[in-house]
Amino acid sequence: MLSTLVVYGVARSSNRILWISTRIVCCRRSERGVVSEFVRELPKAELHLHIEGTLEPAMLVSLSGRNHVPLRYSSVAEIEAALQFTNLQSFLDVYYEAAGTLLTRQDFFDLTFAYLQRAAADGVVHAEIFFDPQTHTERGVPFDAVIGGISDALAAGHAEFGMSSGLIMCFLRHLPAGRAMDTLEAAMPFRDQLLGVGLDSSEVGHPPGAFAGVFAAARAEGLRLVSHAGEEGPPEYVWEALDVLGAERIDHGNRALEDAALVTRLVAEQVPLTVCPFSNVKLAVVDRLEDHPLRRMIDLGLNVSINSDDPSYFGGYIGDNYVGTQVALRFSDDEMAGIARNSLRASFVPDHEKQALVANLDEFLSHRP
Ligand code: ADE
Ligand code: ZN
Repeated sequence: MLSTLVVYGVARSSNRILWISTRIVCCRRSERGVVSEFVRELPKAELHLHIEGTLEPAMLVSLSGRNHVPLRYSSVAEIEAALQFTNLQSFLDVYYEAAGTLLTRQDFFDLTFAYLQRAAADGVVHAEIFFDPQTHTERGVPFDAVIGGISDALAAGHAEFGMSSGLIMCFLRHLPAGRAMDTLEAAMPFRDQLLGVGLDSSEVGHPPGAFAGVFAAARAEGLRLVSHAGEEGPPEYVWEALDVLGAERIDHGNRALEDAALVTRLVAEQVPLTVCPFSNVKLAVVDRLEDHPLRRMIDLGLNVSINSDDPSYFGGYIGDNYVGTQVALRFSDDEMAGIARNSLRASFVPDHEKQALVANLDEFLSHRP
């Protein structure tokens, strides 16, 4: 059944996105009420997004040809057919192979700008983006081509969409901690282009504690600290990320639910968890979206946001994650607005900018019919 409601157009003022109600569109109705595009348009922050995970099959084929990097696949259809995963490692094997087609500054620009266009259409007003330099420098791609192309695109995204952003450099935890330290040193000439550091890749068997030294060095440089933990790894890895690395946000954190004392700690300190529902289904962390623990997390008082992780591999960008999760877990619009508010508050923007981002969300909500 179709119905009408007001959605919000976008206008720009002083390079900051403002939301105004301008047009009438149709939306779907579910058995329990209107399922609108409201949540797609909610002003939100994306805090858990691997830029290499936005490499769409069509761009992959094109880069493979342009850079003469052969792939196991010969068409978009073959790539799409390969996007079936049984766990994190089965995904990472495909993800790293695909990332091998990224060679030049222009490649990193194109990849990043394509993401920003999609994110802007999904209401993202601020994005804190992960990149994995080791995936590229270990293949001989210069560090400055990677960070230069991404940073150029972030500047273009700010000019074009009014979207603010920051770059979080992730260390690959399946490689030795010494290589992470080398990477931090290689990044220092570009220090002003970095917001923080993170830890990603194969989790089980690679506890965060091994990276204590490089995280301490990053903190000494004034970089913000985040870490993947509790996606597949046990609650102990979440404790370590907090206590040994000093992580300020936990990326995923699902398995924290297995440890009541850890939940108490996360709630008491309101540590943000950047949750990725579509990712969790595709990587078999949960069986179905309807079984996702996000509602339980909220009921427990955890500070959660919704993010897309690797959207070209997991079936949707952040707006799709918001819409799909609302439907599957029967969240009200107010609950979804609360999740968007959490995302803005959990960002690393300075306080005065954060207040402006939250005020912009409130302005958007005030135009709700
Ligand atoms: N790198 C890209 N996506 C990841 C994920 N979901 N977990 C760990 N490392 C990743
Ligand atoms: Zn991730």
